[in-house]
Amino acid sequence: MTHHRVKNGRREFLVTIAGGIAGLAVGSLSARVLAQPAGGPPLNISTIGAGREGGALGALFVKAGHRVMFSSRHPDTLKGLVDELGPLARVGTVAEAVEFGDVVMVVVPYTAIEQIGKDYSNALAKKVLVIDVSNPRRDDAEIVKWVDDQGGAGLATAKFLPGSHIVRAFNAINYAKLSADAHRQGELVGVPIAGDDPHAIDIASSLIREIGFDPVVIGGLAMGKYLVPGTPLGGEHTAAEVRQIVTDLH
Ligand SMILES: NC(=O)c1ccc[n+]([C@@H]2O[C@H](COP(=O)([O-])OP(=O)(O)OC[C@H]3O[C@@H](n4cnc5c(N)ncnc54)[C@H](OP(=O)(O)O)[C@@H]3O)[C@@H](O)[C@H]2O)c1
Repeated sequence: MTHHRVKNGRREFLVTIAGGIAGLAVGSLSARVLAQPAGGPPLNISTIGAGREGGALGALFVKAGHRVMFSSRHPDTLKGLVDELGPLARVGTVAEAVEFGDVVMVVVPYTAIEQIGKDYSNALAKKVLVIDVSNPRRDDAEIVKWVDDQGGAGLATAKFLPGSHIVRAFNAINYAKLSADAHRQGELVGVPIAGDDPHAIDIASSLIREIGFDPVVIGGLAMGKYLVPGTPLGGEHTAAEVRQIVTDLH
């Protein structure tokens, strides 16, 4: 597959998506997006789970100029949030969010992913990117053991969402820090990410840069086991620090 990398954030992003589509025959990203020139209109991004972390991340993508659907099983509860964020933000049900997003973030209690997979894994598998922000709760021994048995949170999510182009990201950056950390002065905050699909990784990396962070690919989904709170990668580090921590993990 030819992968023309263009040294321009938006252009690189769209070219990367086009490469991903061509190579993977992933049909979900509409012709609308592929037809856009560099610097063209924004993507549709959905968040399944628009609580503390999903709401904060979604707000950053709105600020970056994307259309974001914040979803809930009780969409009326999110009206205040989207009213504050303006016309690029909208509310939907979970089903509407799955339909709407070119890119879908999953930011829910980890135990909820199983049902989301049962209901939507076919649709999610058609997205070019599913960003998995969810973590098993350390105080829920049963899910922690099950996730460990699968090889960690990345591989476990892939079991729940077979066929999805999953990238784990933002798993251990506190929601309350996201807004201030984005585009911070000096060295940016590094966001360690893990995924098996190179194009999904490229798209995630571009989106992460757009909202003012520095993506660092730490490996495939198997490395997602380190992308949970409480590991050395948790919290805020520069990209160089993330790379050093990953070297020390091996
Ligand atoms: N909080 C943080 O700083 C932080 C940082 C990094 C990662 N995370 C991870 O992000 C995830 C969410 O954490 P949070 O703090 O944002 O939690 P939260 O504020 O409680 O929000 C959870 C969201 O999940 C949705 N949800 C729950 N069950 C669902 C289901 N069965 N189907 C669809 N949506 C469902 C809820 O939507 P409804 O309106 O439908 O109830 C709610 O919007 C967790 O896995 C957490 O480990 C959190």
